[in-house]
Amino acid sequence: MGRVAIYPSILSADFACLKEQLKSVERAGADGIHLDVMDGHFVPNLTFGPIVIQWLRKITTLPFWAHLMIEEPGRYIPEFHKAGVNGIYVHPNADRDPVDLATQIRQLGLQPGLAINPDEDIEPLAPLFKHFEHFLIMTVHPGFGGQEFMPEPVNHIKFIRSSTSDWPNPPHIDVDGGINVETAPKVVWAGADGLIAGSAIFGEPDPASALRTIRTVAETVQDETR
Ligand code: DX5
Ligand code: ZN
Repeated sequence: MGRVAIYPSILSADFACLKEQLKSVERAGADGIHLDVMDGHFVPNLTFGPIVIQWLRKITTLPFWAHLMIEEPGRYIPEFHKAGVNGIYVHPNADRDPVDLATQIRQLGLQPGLAINPDEDIEPLAPLFKHFEHFLIMTVHPGFGGQEFMPEPVNHIKFIRSSTSDWPNPPHIDVDGGINVETAPKVVWAGADGLIAGSAIFGEPDPASALRTIRTVAETVQDETR
């Protein structure tokens, strides 16, 4: 059976009991935790920063991926490193030079990821691809959990798969926004191998079972594409 990585986003979790919430998805086989960091400028919402992540780091060994939706992310990357994240997604328009950000992230021993908005013109971004091994295809406008899945960015998945088809190690393509049991198969079919889900996991009465169901439907499709 093909492996599809599942990264629950704590944006929709109960922040009064994050420890229990993380433990439940860890037991259910989550591949990592997606941490949505927002500054009220780059996106019109505020969430949390390194101080919260540093405490979460103590309760699980799962990989942490920070999705930085902040201005000048380069200023804060060392703080996220200290807090214990394993990978960092950056948006190409958030700082002066995304290649510098990728280098900075890699020099700290972390994995860089490139986040691509739904309405982004993807072809001009192609020269950046070689600096990243992870891609985060946004299927909602970043800023809030619980939004409806946008089908158009599925083409971004196909574009990245085709333009990296000669890479010795194919990149990881993660999809973020409106992922649930109906939409997960569509993005896996298009070539995604990582799924971020917030409300479809933590918005359900039993997050662990919701995670397992998403994995089952996604991996069934992945088997069919082989
Ligand atoms: C949106 C965030 C997402 C969000 C996804 O800006 O990047 O990670 O948590 O939430 P759902 O899965 O509810 O669309
Ligand atoms: Zn996110």
